[in-house]
Amino acid sequence: MKVFTEIPELKKFLKSQRMTAAREGKELQVGLVPTMGYLHEGHASLLRKSRAENDLVVLSIFVNPIQFGPNEDLDRYPRDAERDLALAEREGVDAVLMPSVEEMYPQPIRTKVAVAELTSLLCGASRPGHFDGVTTVVSKLFHIVSPQRAYFGQKDAQQVAVVARMVKDLNFDVEIVPCPIVRESDGLALSSRNVYLSTEQRAAALVLSRSLKQLEAEVSSGKSITTGEAKGQLFHHIGSEPLAEIDYVEMVAFPSMEPLQEANSLNSELEAHGGILAAVAVKFGATRLIDNVLLTRK
Ligand code: PAJ
Repeated sequence: MKVFTEIPELKKFLKSQRMTAAREGKELQVGLVPTMGYLHEGHASLLRKSRAENDLVVLSIFVNPIQFGPNEDLDRYPRDAERDLALAEREGVDAVLMPSVEEMYPQPIRTKVAVAELTSLLCGASRPGHFDGVTTVVSKLFHIVSPQRAYFGQKDAQQVAVVARMVKDLNFDVEIVPCPIVRESDGLALSSRNVYLSTEQRAAALVLSRSLKQLEAEVSSGKSITTGEAKGQLFHHIGSEPLAEIDYVEMVAFPSMEPLQEANSLNSELEAHGGILAAVAVKFGATRLIDNVLLTRK
């Protein structure tokens, strides 16, 4: 496994790997897994899928400052490079890019990539500028690595929708591969931020997966409820947990992120849109967690 801190060095390595494959008459298949490090099983699942589907796997580890708001957790975002590299090695990663902020962003930054509309709601509403930071760094990584495939977790479902839309709008030659949410055995979605939680907060946070799972079960049992009722039910279920401070509880069409008609039955909205994303963001103390479920037609 090769570890790069400098972008031109990684580019040189990829070029030589592509030339070697080309001499044998093959096109090297490259998979990219972008992360901010402090890797867990969720990240590992992306690496495994990329390993299975490509000749060469590139992992990027970069805590991207421009996707954090001024009052967010950039300074205390957990980091452990040594542990991350050991996990990457175990998962068969070929190349890791771990650039410094200076390497990634020549100062001052004058160019950003922004996706409109899809970024104005859910996490985009709570975290202004967040998705511009994500699409800017992801498009830089796509240019640096030129992967055939890039792997993203449904844990950040809006991020998947936004990145896929950017790829379509800007003609990036990359397939966005969405990967299922990896959870602890008790349902908590894995997140690098889970380390911030106290024992009590962690127990309280189970209300997220429980409420989403209940909604999913109701929908698949064919129960007739309106979108508004479903949203209200999620809101009350989560709100009944004293340690939970709701940021948002939303239901939108996926991946268009278009609003739904609250008076319509959930089933008719499912028929109309194909997929509905029920997404929540909730604070437990200072820690903001997100979770979601993608409801689909049976
Ligand atoms: P990060 O939060 O490190 O997540 C990296 C990737 O791992 C994302 O695609 C995320 O959705 C996925 N992931 C995280 N937890 C997961 C889980 N429990 N199950 C499945 N996948 C999970 O998302 C980012 O970094 C950044 O915004 C990034 C895309 C790297 C741009 O800076």
